[in-house]
Amino acid sequence: MPHWNRALVIGASSGIGKALAEQLLKDGASVAMIARRKEPLDEIASKAPSGKAFVYPHDVTDYDTTEALFQQITKDLGGLDLVIYNSGVMFASEENEFNLKKDREMIEVNVTAAFAWLNEAARRFQQTKSGTIVGISSVAGDRGRRANPAYCTTKAALTTYLESLRNRLSKYGVKVVTIKPGFIDTEMTRGKPGLFWLISADKAAQIILNAARKGKSTAYVPGRWRYVSLILRHIPSFIFKHLPV
Ligand SMILES: NC(=O)c1ccc[n+]([C@@H]2O[C@H](COP(=O)([O-])OP(=O)(O)OC[C@H]3O[C@@H](n4cnc5c(N)ncnc54)[C@H](OP(=O)(O)O)[C@@H]3O)[C@@H](O)[C@H]2O)c1
Repeated sequence: MPHWNRALVIGASSGIGKALAEQLLKDGASVAMIARRKEPLDEIASKAPSGKAFVYPHDVTDYDTTEALFQQITKDLGGLDLVIYNSGVMFASEENEFNLKKDREMIEVNVTAAFAWLNEAARRFQQTKSGTIVGISSVAGDRGRRANPAYCTTKAALTTYLESLRNRLSKYGVKVVTIKPGFIDTEMTRGKPGLFWLISADKAAQIILNAARKGKSTAYVPGRWRYVSLILRHIPSFIFKHLPV
């Protein structure tokens, strides 16, 4: 099982990303953390062993600076073993709402920016013939749900992109891991109705890192969501369209 010495977590200021950064720091890794909000990143860094945490306030949709920042981070960490793309937004959508402004931001953060960052990671790991890439997708991407067309679409796109990356990079010894969480208790889900099997971000991070260490291709978080997804994927459209999910 790999031990990661140098990790980059994109979207580390809250929820799952924060928990991932904290666990990697606890495991002794040097961790670079990206998000727009600097204060929460500074707070994580303030609790980490000296010289181990690196803070980079950055909006992932600022594509013109992605490449330079990636190079800077690699230099600051003295190399790179693990890249986690976790940044994501999910805006609530009314049943009769069709809103391009919201849809576009979800596409930008959840998909285009993931390509921007993970293309950099893929290029580097292809050259070094090592490394692990983890993408935080969602069970929401397994079906087109009535509740949030754009969010489901972004996660389906990310899942497909990660599968392609895995198929390209496996011959170089690079692992690409697709993570599909169910409901995790974070800012994204707080106050939302109809949640069940809610687990903490810390528990989710533990499951995600274990799955990545084992080199799994796809992991549901927690694992029982695999069976829910299997059932959901086999419900015929004429029934699925009536479900309130
Ligand atoms: N919670 C769930 O039940 C659940 C289920 C399935 C999948 N997921 C996925 O898990 C991931 C983490 O979500 P979470 O639940 O932990 O929610 P969260 O607490 O809201 O975390 C979202 C993270 O994304 C970052 N982010 C958003 N927009 C960004 C931008 N423009 N530039 C840089 N970073 C940005 C946020 O940082 P800043 O705001 O500081 O920039 C924050 O660190 C997301 O991809 C989400 O889709 C969550």
